[in-house]
Amino acid sequence: MSEEHGSLIKTPKQLIVTVFAVFFIPLIIILLLIIYDTSHTGSSALNLATSNALIQPIAKLDFKDSSAPKVLKTGEEVYKSVCSACHAAGVAGAPAFANNGAWSARVGKGYEALLSSVVKGKGAMPARGGAAPDEVNELELGRSVVYLVNASGGKLAEPKEATVEKK
Ligand code: HEC
Repeated sequence: MSEEHGSLIKTPKQLIVTVFAVFFIPLIIILLLIIYDTSHTGSSALNLATSNALIQPIAKLDFKDSSAPKVLKTGEEVYKSVCSACHAAGVAGAPAFANNGAWSARVGKGYEALLSSVVKGKGAMPARGGAAPDEVNELELGRSVVYLVNASGGKLAEPKEATVEKK
C-alpha cells in the first residue's frame, strides 16, 4: 500500500471505527432525539395517534360478514325492486298494481297458491319474478305477494317467519 494516495483508512481497526461512526452515531443521535421528544412533550399518546394516521393503509377492505343475520326486505321493497317492472303498469298480461278488477279472480286462490305461482313462475312471469334466491328469499317473496295483492283488493295476512323456510 503506498502512502501517496493519502487514504485515511489504513488498518482494519480504522475501518471498523469509520463504519461505526458513519452508521451508528447518527442512529444513536436520532434515537436520543426521539426519546427526548416523547419524554418532554408528554404526548406519546398523541404521537402514537399521529403515527397511526401516517402509516394508515390507503385502502380498507370491507368484507361482509356472511354469518351476520340477514335483514329481511319488506314486501314493498321487494315489489319496487322486482315486481313493479311488470305489475306497476301491467305489462305482458300481468295484473296491474291496484287494479282490483284484474286481481279479483286471482285473490280468491289464497296466499299459498299465489305464492306458489310466483315461486314457480306463471305464464309470462318468470320464477321468483326473475329474482335470484339469494337476493330475495321465500319469506320476502311472500311479503311482496301480500303487499301487491292487498294493494289490489286482497286481504291476505302477513306471512310469518316461522311458516316459511328461512334462507
Ligand atoms: C316479467 C314480468 C313479471 C314480474 C317481474 C313479476 N310478475 Fe307477477 N305476473 C306476471 C304475469 C304476466 C302474470 C300473469 C300470469 C298468468 O296468469 O298467466 C303475473 C301474475 C302474478 C300473480 C298472480 C298469480 C296467479 O296465480 O294468478 C301474482 C300473485 C304475482 N304475479 C306476483 C308477483 C310478485 C310478488 C312479483 C315480484 C316478486 C312478480 N309477480 C313479478 C308478470 C310478472
